Amino acid sequence: MKRRHFLKTAPGLAGLLGLPVIAPAETKRSPTLPPIMNDVDPHDEAFWTMIREHFPLTRDRIYLNTGGLGASPYVSINAVKTKIDELEEISETGHSEKLWHDIKTTAGRCLGCDPEEVAYTRNTTEGINIVCNGLPLQRNDEVITSTHEHVGNTITWLVRQKQEGIVMKVFEPSMESAQGNIDRIEKLITKRTKALSISHVTTATGQVLPVKEIGELAKALNLWYFIDGAQSAGMMPLEVHDIGCHAYATSGHKWLVGPKGTGLLYIQKEALDEIKAKFVGAYSNTGDYDFVTGEVHLNPTAQRYEYGTVSVPLFVGLGASMEFLLRIGLKNIWRRVHAMGAALSDGLKDLGVEVLSPAHPDEHSAMITFRLKNVDRSTLQSFLAEKFKLRTRGIYEGGLEGIRISLHLYNSFDDVNSVLEAVQAAKKL
Ligand SMILES: Cc1ncc(COP(=O)(O)O)c(C=O)c1O
Repeated sequence: MKRRHFLKTAPGLAGLLGLPVIAPAETKRSPTLPPIMNDVDPHDEAFWTMIREHFPLTRDRIYLNTGGLGASPYVSINAVKTKIDELEEISETGHSEKLWHDIKTTAGRCLGCDPEEVAYTRNTTEGINIVCNGLPLQRNDEVITSTHEHVGNTITWLVRQKQEGIVMKVFEPSMESAQGNIDRIEKLITKRTKALSISHVTTATGQVLPVKEIGELAKALNLWYFIDGAQSAGMMPLEVHDIGCHAYATSGHKWLVGPKGTGLLYIQKEALDEIKAKFVGAYSNTGDYDFVTGEVHLNPTAQRYEYGTVSVPLFVGLGASMEFLLRIGLKNIWRRVHAMGAALSDGLKDLGVEVLSPAHPDEHSAMITFRLKNVDRSTLQSFLAEKFKLRTRGIYEGGLEGIRISLHLYNSFDDVNSVLEAVQAAKKL
């Protein structure tokens, strides 16, 4: 059954930003937003083809690296350009509390939190650094992470280990079951364990870790709980309150399809005074400070982690990107991209290819990693790029030596078939 329900509701941030909302047929190359949707069938090709038209992304190659960088829709690119033009004419930063709050409200709808719990960052890595260096950890305190983390969620902690003597402990994610991962974390826990730092969706295999269940464990043991959400926000609906983490960092420029150099950091209200703001300046405080008394008051919200002048146009663009995704519906996007991930994984297995991503529907995502016995990672990646024009990402994390395919809302089942055709050819190399 194809279900496509256009909802006639308030325009949300679109209206506030003055973004035009027009019908699907008029979208080509114009800076518009898609209609607000209720339920969309993941196989409704007419709908998803219309969505593809909202992106200037070239068709000269097949883009399969949203895990690295997401492509932005016209509406977002245009919002950035318009804001730059407007601000350059008057040479102003354009910072306004209302604008900041409105965009954070939209971010809160993507993450499942309050606007006061959101800080703008430049990328996930900056969010990880804020949390890693802000947590009240002492020498010999232990932090648990996995071997499938991105370098951004690895060297941050290793540097703190080297400089301050915290102790990192790692587990290799189980591909067998969610419980297997909880067991592996539990096995590493000692009396000195103070924090968990794991990905929601791992960069290595796109595995969805059981973050809520891990949150229950963290709560029961009174552990700090940080999640690297670089690969989840924008790919799926999120409820960070429900997950129960203290902090969650993501990038605006991956699955949220926002401008490059934008990120979001969620810090739970109750954790704001505990996760110390180490980098501060204008915008971090409430205005009153005094050298004589030493008095200084940080903003009572997550705004305290922001400091100095930033690019307002980029965050206006991020607001437009998030609004774009929310109108289509994160649930609809997740069902579509998850279905493409499943089709790719099944197709690769039918070809006899080793799929490194988990098989269970609750554990795989829209990123699928695989490898071939007969072709090494870099030869395979070059072959796919040169002969089949596929932009993929090589995976060296965890020593996997695989190729990762990311499938977002501008990809299609035809793209999945193109990957399968190319891999079939690579098998004969
Ligand atoms: C899980 C994970 N964390 C962090 C990052 C770093 O993202 P950024 O460069 O936006 O900081 C990535 C990038 O691929 C990632 O996959």
